[in-house]
Amino acid sequence: MTTWRARVLSPVTEDELLWLEDALVRLEDGLIVELGPYDGRAVDEDLRPGVLLPGFVDAHLHYPQTRIVGSATGPLLDWLTASTFPEEQRFEDEDHAAQVAAMFCNRLASSGTTLCLAYGSVHPGAAQVLLSALAEHGLKALAGPVLMDTDCPSALQLPAERAIPALEALIARWHGHDDGRLRVAVIPRFALSCSTELLEAAGACAHRHGLYVSTHLAETVEECRIARRRFGTDDYLQVYEVAGLIHDRCVLAHCIHLSDSEWDRLAAAGVSLAHCPDSNDFLGSGSMPVAAARRRGLSIAVGSDVAAGRSFRIPRILSSAYDNGLRQGVTLSAASLLWWGTRGGALALGHPETGQIRPGLEADLCLFDPPPWVEDADGVVASLIFDHDAPRMRQTWVRGICVWEQL
Ligand code: GUN
Ligand code: ZN
Repeated sequence: MTTWRARVLSPVTEDELLWLEDALVRLEDGLIVELGPYDGRAVDEDLRPGVLLPGFVDAHLHYPQTRIVGSATGPLLDWLTASTFPEEQRFEDEDHAAQVAAMFCNRLASSGTTLCLAYGSVHPGAAQVLLSALAEHGLKALAGPVLMDTDCPSALQLPAERAIPALEALIARWHGHDDGRLRVAVIPRFALSCSTELLEAAGACAHRHGLYVSTHLAETVEECRIARRRFGTDDYLQVYEVAGLIHDRCVLAHCIHLSDSEWDRLAAAGVSLAHCPDSNDFLGSGSMPVAAARRRGLSIAVGSDVAAGRSFRIPRILSSAYDNGLRQGVTLSAASLLWWGTRGGALALGHPETGQIRPGLEADLCLFDPPPWVEDADGVVASLIFDHDAPRMRQTWVRGICVWEQL
């Protein structure tokens, strides 16, 4: 059992924040079992003036791109060719993969991120290395290799008859590991790097094992044009629909250039959206039409999309989400932003046991030190999300176990 005294900020709903200026938090067996105003009792630790927050959720990022953050070679297809594919080829070497996987996990934990959906390179061995690094660091994740067999360097192509058995072996080894903390996801990279056969095999594999699927959708106008032409479909989404990839365990990154019909079909299928605003800015991909997604009740999470995104810090991504909203005529509240980066993200990734600070949920938490003059919820949100130079995280826990601490 652990008891803390702390300031607490947590989303309650998409419209409501909980702020406790002086709270008592009690943890037992990795769960939050008590939360309320501080009542004078002796505690194990007084975390004040730190603010306890739910751990952040990053619904879309690429582990083999950890070392190329900041490669300004966009737009998307140029960036893939110039910066991304050459870097991902290095992950054939498992020693290299292990070094980067450790760095990646450390970057997540030190950013306060406790749950993520992480894409690997095409190499099954590099995904194996990532999953064991995540297990070692105690982070929660959905992860897997990207599936790709077309229109990329031959060293990054793996046909379905080799990729799917390798994925099955990863599923057997890792899916559900450590009480469900780790899950294997099926990740066809995007339409342009996959054959019809690979997309269909991916859809069937996810269906067989009840797995989450993730891919990129409609990130750039050029990509949409090529996808329609290559697959002969009416629109981009149809490419994934016919392969059986679009359902309520599907997390789609970007979703910028979609028709009304595509938005309606995404909502009807119950997919979740990984909104990646910083990446969209850095690659000049466009602005996600946030009103179209919200109007239809789509579940929205945010993704750093490292390394097209320039930061592992989800608060930094929420700042970009706010800017993206304003460009679209939507003023997003602090509660909505925090929801997307915590509880909304957890629900989108199928982890209802986390993402908020409330009794009964798992103690996946981080501690943020705002500047000393910050005294209320508005000030905490302002410094956390919008003051990019404000002090950073102090500590991160998953199920009550410290996975990172600022020394
Ligand atoms: N589309 C296909 N691959 C990628 C990738 O690695 N990053 C982004 N942002 N978009 C992609
Ligand atoms: Zn991406």
